[in-house]
Amino acid sequence: MASHTEGIHIDVYFCWWLPLYEWKMISKTIRLPEDLISNMSLHSLLQNKLPPEKLALLPKHFEVIGDIAIINIPHSLDTEKHLISEALSFQRKDIKTVLLKLNKIEGAARVADFELLLGDRTTTLHRENGCVFFLDVTKTFFSGKMYYERGRIAQKVNDGEDVLVLFAGAGPFLIPIKKQRNVNITGLDNNREACTYLRKNIELNHIDGNVILGDARHVINLFKENFDRIVMPAPYGQDFFLDIAQSVLKPGGYVHFYTFKKDFEIPHFRRLLEEKGWFIDFYRDCGDVAPRVKRYVFDLHLRG
Ligand SMILES: C[S@@+](CC[C@H](N)C(=O)[O-])C[C@H]1O[C@@H](n2cnc3c(N)ncnc32)[C@H](O)[C@@H]1O
Repeated sequence: MASHTEGIHIDVYFCWWLPLYEWKMISKTIRLPEDLISNMSLHSLLQNKLPPEKLALLPKHFEVIGDIAIINIPHSLDTEKHLISEALSFQRKDIKTVLLKLNKIEGAARVADFELLLGDRTTTLHRENGCVFFLDVTKTFFSGKMYYERGRIAQKVNDGEDVLVLFAGAGPFLIPIKKQRNVNITGLDNNREACTYLRKNIELNHIDGNVILGDARHVINLFKENFDRIVMPAPYGQDFFLDIAQSVLKPGGYVHFYTFKKDFEIPHFRRLLEEKGWFIDFYRDCGDVAPRVKRYVFDLHLRG
């Protein structure tokens, strides 16, 4: 792998209009500016280093959290994984750690297993919606893909509300809400590490908030007062939490409910919500999570 200061050299042909009305082609080597390199795909960076059948298997996208890149590499590229991680850090100078995702997100804590390909730490400082988040990506779930949603929800909240964020993680919903609104806010997660990072992030963002280490199944026993608004990025396949959350919602209260569905399931799901007495203010598809499966958000309130 070339060193970062070398740049990339390509051969180009210049056409010179000579005084004698004759074309002359000469070959010259130029240097590509840094900006151009950083926009190049892994495919372009590895073009001369991998055969076409391996180039075709390269990942097209990778997730970046703070200065950590998380990459999925197929087993057939196992022997090239270090070359790929070096190309990635060459492409993105802000990346200090490259993690290879070894399996899908699993378990109650919703974290995957990773192999460290480059760098020496898995903690990072991520910036989003004007807030900072310190976290260890191997200990608590975090995805930068939802930043728009988190900003949108913060705008919906009104001053003076009592807000509960279930499945709060390291605080990507809770912190922007409290930064923008004068509310009484509580975050709940059953992952001890997530709660530790949530407390730390409350401090880092100079706000206050209550953090509860607990199981969302037991909210009815955890709170004496009910909430005006509940934000719930529920784990995959656990829609039953909506009924549980309803037990601590004030009459006329609002819920922002995240669920995973295939498009054809939506009409049935909407009917189900309405039959249960929910009024759907808004819903939208927030992007793919698996082939044909999307994350959806439903902004709901209880019919009077
Ligand atoms: C999909 S993550 C969402 C985290 C965060 N809100 C975000 O958007 O990045 C789900 C979170 O729910 C937590 N969790 C899963 N099951 C739970 C339960 N039964 N009670 C409380 N928290 C739970 C996990 O620890 C994880 O932090």
